[in-house]
Amino acid sequence: MINELLNESTRTMKSSMIRELVASTRNIPGLISFAGGFPSPKTFPRDTLSKLYAEVVASEGMSVLQYGASEGDQELKKELLKWEGYDLNLDQLLVTAGSTNAIYYMTRCLVSPGDVVICEAPSFLGSLVAFEAVGAELAAIPLDLEGLDLNKLQQKVDQLQKAGKKVKMIYTIPDFHNPAGITMSYARRKALIEYAMAMDIPILEDNPYSRLRFSGSPVPTLFRIAHDEYHNTQIVTEIVSFSKILGPGMRLAFAKGSPVLIERMCSWQQKVNITPDCVSQRVAARFLSEGFMPQHLETVCAFYRPYLDRMLSAMSEYLPPYIQYTKPDGGIFTWLWLPEDMNADILFEQAKAHKVTFIPGSKFYPTGQEKFNCLRLNFTFSTFEQIDTGIASLGKLMNEFYT
Ligand SMILES: Cc1ncc(COP(=O)(O)O)c(C=O)c1O
Repeated sequence: MINELLNESTRTMKSSMIRELVASTRNIPGLISFAGGFPSPKTFPRDTLSKLYAEVVASEGMSVLQYGASEGDQELKKELLKWEGYDLNLDQLLVTAGSTNAIYYMTRCLVSPGDVVICEAPSFLGSLVAFEAVGAELAAIPLDLEGLDLNKLQQKVDQLQKAGKKVKMIYTIPDFHNPAGITMSYARRKALIEYAMAMDIPILEDNPYSRLRFSGSPVPTLFRIAHDEYHNTQIVTEIVSFSKILGPGMRLAFAKGSPVLIERMCSWQQKVNITPDCVSQRVAARFLSEGFMPQHLETVCAFYRPYLDRMLSAMSEYLPPYIQYTKPDGGIFTWLWLPEDMNADILFEQAKAHKVTFIPGSKFYPTGQEKFNCLRLNFTFSTFEQIDTGIASLGKLMNEFYT
């Protein structure tokens, strides 16, 4: 009975195919999984956090166990501005329960059913399903090794506007892209900002990974470039998540952008969530104010780096030479391009039978715009031995694919 009562957008809402895929492998004993997207629990700063949670509840429990401000804890917001080195007003910042919430609020504020959201191809499925749930049509623009292909973006936007469509937002993950592992070049970032400003199309910069850099020089975020070089804090809304640096269970992220948009996003938060977790916000504020963050980030990067090195050397040793892959300087994923006729959905089933799993690339594209000759590997979950064994098995399966 309830089924018939569900409204249109709920009835047609897609579940995460990735979650279903991962669930289909859950009971395989001895499985080597490169599928997950979770941070390693070994990187969670448990000792410091347990001390801070205890202190915060003991000394400030009367206020932090109470309902809090919908726009986020003032103390945390001040610490965030200090941490990132911005001179913004607090009304340009919104703290949310993870970036998933902030992405949803921004989409809800800008997109009406039938409007277009530009996304990268491939892109993070969690966001794509959120855009679709709000009724957005998705236009996927390919990535090259420098990031979003701007010529294709311009062609697509022209084509859509000629067809009378409203392009409401460009969604990008410029650093250590999930799933592609690519970091957008500085030149591409500037060109994207200039294009977005000229066309008046807001950019949603999704940034959960930029602090996980193990080598090479950081590239300034789109928000930083827009702020410092174009004196523009309207065109880019940057959403930074604490999920991969403190722990996703804390459900903490923050958005920076135009005060008008931030205020409207806050209004959604008020209706949907009232406030993000007040205790976790104050704990994060103390984590920053007491100076734990720089050392912690160094520890996390030092922990992950050998896993990336191991994955890259296993891929160079065991994968056939015609397989192309990204060599990220950080993050938690690498991405493989297979020959045109090698279908990673089929390879997934074969690999599962050999107790190895990954996410087929097709799951990271909007429906109808899929590519099948690609896949995502996570390198932060398996042991070194599992990386060697798993990649050797995948290499063998790829070699045997055509036989
Ligand atoms: C690109 C990207 N955006 C957003 C998220 C969601 O993060 P959060 O835990 O902050 O909601 C993830 C999580 O994996 C991600 O990879």
